[in-house]
Amino acid sequence: MTPFVQNNLRPALEGKKILLGVTGSIAAFKACEIVRGLRACGARVRVVLTESAEQFVTKTTMETLSGEPVYTSLWNTGNAAQGTHHIDAARWADLALIAPATANTIAKLALGLADDLLSTELLAFQGPILIAPAMNPAMYAHSAVQHNVALLTARGTLVLGPTAGLTACGEEGQGRMLEADEIIELVAQSFYAKANGKQVLLTLGPTRSAIDPVRFISNRSSGLMGAAMAWACVRAGYRVRAICGPTTATLPLSVQVTQVETAAEMAAQVLEGWKTSDVFISAAAVLDWDVTNPETEKIKKEQGQLPTLEFKKNLDILAEVAKHRRDGQFVLGFAAETNDALANGRRKLAAKNCDAIFINDVSQADQGFESETNAGWWVA
Ligand code: CTP
Repeated sequence: MTPFVQNNLRPALEGKKILLGVTGSIAAFKACEIVRGLRACGARVRVVLTESAEQFVTKTTMETLSGEPVYTSLWNTGNAAQGTHHIDAARWADLALIAPATANTIAKLALGLADDLLSTELLAFQGPILIAPAMNPAMYAHSAVQHNVALLTARGTLVLGPTAGLTACGEEGQGRMLEADEIIELVAQSFYAKANGKQVLLTLGPTRSAIDPVRFISNRSSGLMGAAMAWACVRAGYRVRAICGPTTATLPLSVQVTQVETAAEMAAQVLEGWKTSDVFISAAAVLDWDVTNPETEKIKKEQGQLPTLEFKKNLDILAEVAKHRRDGQFVLGFAAETNDALANGRRKLAAKNCDAIFINDVSQADQGFESETNAGWWVA
């Protein structure tokens, strides 16, 4: 499931002007989806194709998809009046994205070469540059490429991916370009990132407590609420650190994720992260009690009856975080209730000393656990 579909949200890029440089890799076919996706978000896109890129996608394809003129050469304007054609797109754009970025283009960018239209535009461009490398894994691992990527990163270029997986050449490894949706999301995040700079610490999903090596106690939390909060925070310009219980929910790529299983592991990560965060969002369904006497071997049914489980109460992470709140830090709790939701939720807001609480009546089918939609009360 793509992030857009999951969240019924497209990043807002109205009025943003993006220079998309497409270079000679088979992943150039994904550039067509990038143009369509960026335009669907409201952005204008001007495409520059290198000579090699034209082996994979045509100027006509890109002109049709972008609705803008597409340039491929330093010399082909046919218009003597356009004396600065070689840097037109650089003057026009808010952001430059190179997707796919080949080893050759990355090297040219690192060295500051300007021997074709794209490399010339990029030298003249003063805004943020994002590159999405795509190449054979052995090429990407080569020290020359790694050196160039490190050089560009140090210079402020944002490198998107590549991911590990099967590449078009049939080899597995890091070199596969990110998918169009992921690249568009990261482009959007690079605009949002400027807006804020504050740090959100977020918990999501359930925790687990083992009964034996194959069984555990947990709850129905899917992590979807927390993931939706992560998307909203990223889009609002926050840096997000997520402490996740077991969940398959999709988080934005920019989120720093720490996976945990037990309530104690979650508590340790949160209390450490809280020291450097501005906002805490407690969307996890933390087990209130953990088993203290899990069996070390699998419990066999021949035993006749289940061993008696003993429990100890877990730390209330939210209450503990709120207790250590400094001036300016904001704490948002959640309440999962099945009866008298508003009154119970209000009691939790006070007892845990949160700044606000979102109260869910989880007895409703379309709210709370495992639901793609939610409704409830925000009480502050
Ligand atoms: N919470 C927490 N640590 C716990 C238990 C809960 O941080 N050990 C947080 C949850 O993340 C949520 C809030 O406290 O933000 C309320 O959780 P909820 O399950 O609704 O209530 P409980 O406090 O567990 O109380 P009860 O189970 O009695 O309703």
